[in-house]
Amino acid sequence: MVVQGRSGTRFGTGALGSESSAPPPTTERGASVPRLRVRQRVGKYRLTRRIADGGMSTVFEAYDTIEGVKVALKVPRPNLVDRSVLEQFRREVRTHAALDHPNILPIKNADVLDGRFVIAVPLGEESLADRMQRRLGISTALDYSHQLLQALAHAHEHRIVHCDVKPENLLLFEGGVLRLADFGIAKVVKRTERGSGSGTLGYMAPEQAFGRTSFRGDVFTAALLIWRMLSGQLPDWPFEKPLVGVKVLRRRVPTELVEILHKALSVEPKKRFRDAGAFLEAWEKVLPAVERTLKRQKRSRR
Ligand SMILES: Nc1ncnc2c1ncn2[C@@H]1O[C@H](COP(=O)(O)OP(=O)(O)O)[C@@H](O)[C@H]1O
Ligand SMILES: [Mg+2]
Repeated sequence: MVVQGRSGTRFGTGALGSESSAPPPTTERGASVPRLRVRQRVGKYRLTRRIADGGMSTVFEAYDTIEGVKVALKVPRPNLVDRSVLEQFRREVRTHAALDHPNILPIKNADVLDGRFVIAVPLGEESLADRMQRRLGISTALDYSHQLLQALAHAHEHRIVHCDVKPENLLLFEGGVLRLADFGIAKVVKRTERGSGSGTLGYMAPEQAFGRTSFRGDVFTAALLIWRMLSGQLPDWPFEKPLVGVKVLRRRVPTELVEILHKALSVEPKKRFRDAGAFLEAWEKVLPAVERTLKRQKRSRR
């Protein structure tokens, strides 16, 4: 297992070499593929802007010249395109395509165009990571949290563990709609909950560092992100109580909600909710109390 650090870098047991030692770019058939540039065309898409260079892929804003809409185009980084990467992308698409939910980013198209694997998805306004650079009001944070739990509950219902819930993998759309994206290292759980070790340091359940991925791992990671949105602080290893930001959190939301988050953030996986569905159910039960608190806070501010 390779650990590459805390700055949002993904690590895992995949067969990816380091950049410098990676083989020259190849397509499925082994031919060379030059680096993509803005204004270039790939099939029916015209690249308009580079949005992000991830560990695995480059994401472009692109114009679909047939549908006449803007999309986001995810393309494996050229120095990483070999058979194992293409296989990984194919797996990502298949896992992702099994899901259909308003809070999960839908795939518009996945294809090999001009020798490149591309995934086209609707273009979001920004990632939650970008959004979190600006102040997040408490009701917005609660709303995003609820949307995240609904997305994750749907994935878990379909036996898919996301394994990499973090602000960079959540996208915001018009009207404040949040969508879970990037099923690059998601796992389909069959009989056992165990999977290979992957995830992003910073947002990761303690046991995930030892190679165990599970629904309960996603529960922990989602709770960490929610904790950060609601309190402004991100608890860190070894996740001992009191967790950072708990005082702020208690001022902002009812005790019942703090308790739910504490349960989801139990170091021992067995003490957490068994999956996002159970987490969501508990969350929705306290929503009326949360709304009453918010109203009271608003009134007292007036
Ligand atoms: N549909 C989209 N709309 C807007 N930005 C996107 C979209 N998809 C991805 N991005 C941006 O690109 C980044 C990387 O995309 P992601 O699917 O997470 O790829 P990677 O596997 O490289 O992490 C995201 O963190 C986000 O900032
Ligand atoms: Mg990502």
